[in-house]
Amino acid sequence: MELHYVFEERFVVGGWSTEFEAGKLHARTIINQPLVFMRKEDGTLIDMTDRCPHRWAPLSMGRIESGTLRCMYLGVRFGADGRCVEVPGQEKIPSALKVRTFAVIERHKWAWIRPRENIRTFGDAERRSTADAYRSGRSTTVRIKVRSPNAYS
Ligand code: FES
Repeated sequence: MELHYVFEERFVVGGWSTEFEAGKLHARTIINQPLVFMRKEDGTLIDMTDRCPHRWAPLSMGRIESGTLRCMYLGVRFGADGRCVEVPGQEKIPSALKVRTFAVIERHKWAWIRPRENIRTFGDAERRSTADAYRSGRSTTVRIKVRSPNAYS
């Protein structure tokens, strides 16, 4: 099974729920995808591509501001849905300036992620197919790399 398929079509574990503390950014590389997790004050866990669409700076080196994420390269700010909400020094916000976001579902102490366009309910069918894949040997072990914020310095 191709890893790209696994990432795009399956729920993939992003980490233990307890790893994602509120008010901090958490960088992960999962199946070669640089991701940043952010837990909002209301407890919602957000997952985005860890690349600012402006100049590709890692958003995990940014800052959380009222449930939004500010890139510290030139200060562009993104909402939890990935849309740009502020460009310093200009009023017009380009609608194309978006970060890819992922659906996050927390079940059984894990945070599961999936591309938002592929989201569907994480229910019995998903659990069964995961268990069946494991029993039949079709399961795939995926390594998760935890990046420290200063990995880019
Ligand atoms: S790279 Fe993020 S604001 Fe420019």
